Amino acid sequence: MTVEQDWEEFKAKLKKKTEIDLDLYKAPQMQRRILNLAKRHGYETYSGYFDKVVQDKDDFAAFIEYLTINVSEFFRTPDKFAKLETDVIPDLLTRSSKLNIWSAGCSIGAEPYSLAMIMKTLTPNTRHRILATDLDIEILAKARRGEYSINELKAMDENRKKKYFTVTGDTYAVTQEIKDCIEFKRHNLLKDDFEQGFDLILCRNVVIYFTEEAKDQLYANFFKALKPGGILFVGATEAILNFRKLGYTSFQPFFYQKPLV
Ligand SMILES: C[S@@+](CC[C@H](N)C(=O)[O-])C[C@H]1O[C@@H](n2cnc3c(N)ncnc32)[C@H](O)[C@@H]1O
Repeated sequence: MTVEQDWEEFKAKLKKKTEIDLDLYKAPQMQRRILNLAKRHGYETYSGYFDKVVQDKDDFAAFIEYLTINVSEFFRTPDKFAKLETDVIPDLLTRSSKLNIWSAGCSIGAEPYSLAMIMKTLTPNTRHRILATDLDIEILAKARRGEYSINELKAMDENRKKKYFTVTGDTYAVTQEIKDCIEFKRHNLLKDDFEQGFDLILCRNVVIYFTEEAKDQLYANFFKALKPGGILFVGATEAILNFRKLGYTSFQPFFYQKPLV
């Protein structure tokens, strides 16, 4: 079997098992990551490693976690979260008192929980909707548990740490009040239908391995999913260069707005 055939077979098996379509991800990067892992476990082929790892539920879950790269933390890139709190959300609140927010690719939940904390500060008595989705079922289970290490909280201010976590040993657990603000759901951004009518969408540090075509399609789908005046917030290295072509205006760097009509 050639390397190409091996890769094709691996992709087909992965897609059948998980619905993850690696044709929509950048091949060289994904190949490098997967082969590194396979070699670490003594395998020289993609499909040989797949056949091994699929046999054990925990090993397979860890493999998917590795493949989807779900590193995250609370208030990731704090200066951008500060803009969200001081400029972006207050602007959205001038048009709608109850916001419909989507954290797309939410990983361990740090992003949607950070949002919930901001909303509690800005509008303590309003119940907004915060939808948080990810492709990876295991990571969603961790997100729902809401338990973290201090390292994942390093960008947070002390007041919020005290207010929104209970500490047991080395574990920081998000309070029930904050957990109750989030609706977690499995969703594949490259395959599933999108809900509509969002005031704010966060999609940060998710598209790193998507092809350019997949990214364009995703940002076009987000555009449709936003209300007029709604804002898309992307990662600190993910500026959308062709945002005008996709219909957005620039609200601030890394925040793109659907025009009000
Ligand atoms: C690095 S984390 C980013 C978490 C958070 N947004 C942040 O900025 O800290 C990337 C997440 O994107 C998810 N992901 C990757 N491909 C996806 C897809 N096609 N649909 C939905 N989520 C995806 C991964 O499972 C992972 O949890």
